[in-house]
Amino acid sequence: MRRPLVAGNWKMNGDSKSTVNLVNGIANGRAEVINAEVLICPPYILIPRAADTLNGRDDVFLGAQDLDINESGAFTGQISASMLVDAGCKYVLVGHSERRALYGESDQDVAAKFDAAQKGALIPVLCVGETLAERESGDTETVVARQLQAIIDLVGAEKLADSVIAYEPVWAIGTGVTASPEQAQDVHKFIRDMLAVLSTDLAENMQILYGGSMNPGNASALIGMQDIDGGLIGGASLQAESFLAICKSAN
Ligand code: PGA
Repeated sequence: MRRPLVAGNWKMNGDSKSTVNLVNGIANGRAEVINAEVLICPPYILIPRAADTLNGRDDVFLGAQDLDINESGAFTGQISASMLVDAGCKYVLVGHSERRALYGESDQDVAAKFDAAQKGALIPVLCVGETLAERESGDTETVVARQLQAIIDLVGAEKLADSVIAYEPVWAIGTGVTASPEQAQDVHKFIRDMLAVLSTDLAENMQILYGGSMNPGNASALIGMQDIDGGLIGGASLQAESFLAICKSAN
């Protein structure tokens, strides 16, 4: 059976003090989260602070929000997979829509990052999703399939097994407008069906998260859908109370 995963994407928010408070808050409430695996993705520079605060406990996983495709060298400003592992990360987001839209990452760039993450022993959380214009023109499935296919083309279908997929409709991210459980379920099922063509095991075991304005009020209905295996949470992951409430909605 697939375990739900609830991941917090802090984006570019927080400082040392708020990190200690937030991590302590999550750690203190962790025992009430029965079913879900819990992951937090702080900004790079706050990852060591989060790791120190967790102090070795392994029931809250750490991840980063991005990585470079190179292992080391003259790449000013960049961070590699091995650095993230060294800092305590287990996961890394790749292809978040903000990286695609604001920093020009192509499907091929995202695939290269997916590959670099796995080669560096990190679990990539591959973000896919359509813009509002793409949804309105009926292209949701085409876009999601293209984003997924770029990964399969580069690394091969079998490598997908060691990853997580997050379906995040761009129009729902940070907008307060969430996909309805049925709208999200439709795309999740489309993704799982696409995987099933490659391997039924792969399709059955893949954690497919929903992201986009998930909050304590809508999380249960979304996570309750058959093909939704948790959430990737932005705004509501910045307070321990709301993040934990979402984690508990998978109980
Ligand atoms: P949001 O962000 O929950 O603030 O909409 C989700 C995300 O970008 O991962």
